Amino acid sequence: TWTTEAFLEESIREIRAKVGDKRVLLALSGGVDSSTLAFLLHRAIGDQLTCMFIDQGFMRKGEPERLMEIFNERFHIKVEYVSARDRFLEKLVGVLDPEEKRRRIGHEFIRVFEEESRRLGPFDYLAQGTLYPDVIESADTNVDPQTGERVAVKIKSHHNVGGLPEDLQFKLVEPLRKLFKDEVRQLARTIGLPPEIVRRHPFPGPGLAIRIIGEVTAERLNILRDADFVVRDEIRKWDMYNDFWQAFAVLLPIHSVGVMGDQRTYAHPVVVRCVSSEDGMTADWSRAPYDLLEAISNRIVNEVKGVNRVVYDITSKPPGTIEWE
Ligand code: XMP
Repeated sequence: TWTTEAFLEESIREIRAKVGDKRVLLALSGGVDSSTLAFLLHRAIGDQLTCMFIDQGFMRKGEPERLMEIFNERFHIKVEYVSARDRFLEKLVGVLDPEEKRRRIGHEFIRVFEEESRRLGPFDYLAQGTLYPDVIESADTNVDPQTGERVAVKIKSHHNVGGLPEDLQFKLVEPLRKLFKDEVRQLARTIGLPPEIVRRHPFPGPGLAIRIIGEVTAERLNILRDADFVVRDEIRKWDMYNDFWQAFAVLLPIHSVGVMGDQRTYAHPVVVRCVSSEDGMTADWSRAPYDLLEAISNRIVNEVKGVNRVVYDITSKPPGTIEWE
């Protein structure tokens, strides 16, 4: 029978046998898969592991700082912080199409990853948080005909793009490849990941960039980050974080008329989206309490400059998607 403890021991043995005294690179996203992977590898091979976090500037308020604090200070797993906010933003100037945004962000991610792995390397292995469902449809790897080993030709980041150049192809370490998502969560708990990572809502790789409809600008990012913070802060205060599959804010690029004091305002609307789901494939809009929604609305309009209206999305999936882009 499968127990997490037995799995943990066995994979630590396997990782050590495979890696020997070589170096391993891991791209940390802050999600549960890559975080679990980092904890597991760190336990198996310690400082032979190098974790890298690329800050694209599209994370939620305080998240990059929190991630660094958890890994570096609390658990002493060293993470190289790569600040790349400006270069990602530059790539999005004038871009309105959602798929074009994803393409450009994914492409830039690979460029940064490449540069940084050359700077920090060389590395023999790349650790990937491949899960069992990914193995079944693995078009992002080649199998070396001589050794039978899987070799990365793409990196499986949270962006599903990105060919690696010929001279930068790593052998893979994929200790989670036999696991389903719920088993990863179980392993995460056993290995001591804090609940805030284990229970974290799914968050798209392109992050807030696809929650700003239309062009992404520094100013819009600030507005959305603050509005999104209010949503999450109120939901936590109401102790409802775990009741939702995802709960977030979306910024619309239009303006609507409002009134504040005796002043007419003309500012952005924010959409609040809360859904319940089992796997993200289908979803129901959540019947969030009116009082919670009111608290969110009042705070966003009062605290977030540039927003004068809050609307709630009451569309399920299908026909809506969870995200707006
Ligand atoms: P949709 O919007 O298609 O989303 O109903 C389903 C789930 O996938 C997430 N999502 C993404 N995740 N990169 C990701 O890593 C993406 O480009 C992306 N788009 C959507 C979404 O948050 C939801 O959990």
